[in-house]
Amino acid sequence: MAEAFLVAKDLHKSFNDHKAVNGVSFTIGKNEIFGLLGPNGAGKTTTIRMLSTVLEPDVGEVTISGFSTRQQPDKVRSIIGVCPQELALYEELTALDNLTFFGRLVGLNSRETRAQSMANLALMELEQRAKGKVSKFSGGMKRRVNLAIALMGHPKLLFLDEPTVGIDPQSRNKIFETIQGLRTNGMTVLYTTHYMEEADRLCDRVAIMDGGKIVAIDTPRALKAKLGDPDKTTLEDVFLKLTGRSLRD
Ligand SMILES: Nc1ncnc2c1ncn2[C@@H]1O[C@H](COP(=O)(O)OP(=O)(O)OP(=O)(O)O)[C@@H](O)[C@H]1O
Ligand SMILES: [Mg+2]
Repeated sequence: MAEAFLVAKDLHKSFNDHKAVNGVSFTIGKNEIFGLLGPNGAGKTTTIRMLSTVLEPDVGEVTISGFSTRQQPDKVRSIIGVCPQELALYEELTALDNLTFFGRLVGLNSRETRAQSMANLALMELEQRAKGKVSKFSGGMKRRVNLAIALMGHPKLLFLDEPTVGIDPQSRNKIFETIQGLRTNGMTVLYTTHYMEEADRLCDRVAIMDGGKIVAIDTPRALKAKLGDPDKTTLEDVFLKLTGRSLRD
């Protein structure tokens, strides 16, 4: 693995008496696409929220590019982009106005905001719809606007929390292509999903989470090879073997 860009050490987070994240540690290499996989309620979003300074861990430390999320949250925020699981869009605004709003929020001047907004909409193949109201967009288009927003300010590390839930194959392929292109241009990506086949296709390494803990972490191929012929095994099989139940239970 290349030099570590993100280091998470022994993260814990409880809500009331429920341990949502229970001792999670991992590193993400610079320029890596890292997958955080697991069923509903595994603790993926809670982990992302701690990594992205939204939520303070009860216990544990995170550094991103050497900056501590506890001591230097502003530094961390200046180098990350977050594409949240719940769409964070102003439905009554146009796509362009949504991007413009977030561009100004991350401190870009108006010229830079305009340039990046148009570039990101073009990247997501939405430039023809720049002046369209988001409320009129399909689910897949909204997901693509969500991703275009996360790219404002040229983040070095992008958090994508289930970016492909409930969308058409075309939008899904567009999102995949975009992530691969961003990586080629030097970005580091953390990707969460409960679609194991997506992670297999996209990620350099994956961590499989269940019940707030990481139960396995490695390249998809190495995880599959532990079970048998990696060309005939799926990450779904790996999950079943590790937890004794199917991901879709
Ligand atoms: N703000 C909160 N208050 C109370 N409980 C919470 C809160 N956020 C998360 N939880 C609980 O913590 C656990 C982990 O939730 P989390 O959202 O991190 O899981 P997830 O892996 O992202 O699941 P999903 O695949 O459904 O998005 C769940 O049991 C959830 O109900
Ligand atoms: Mg989640």
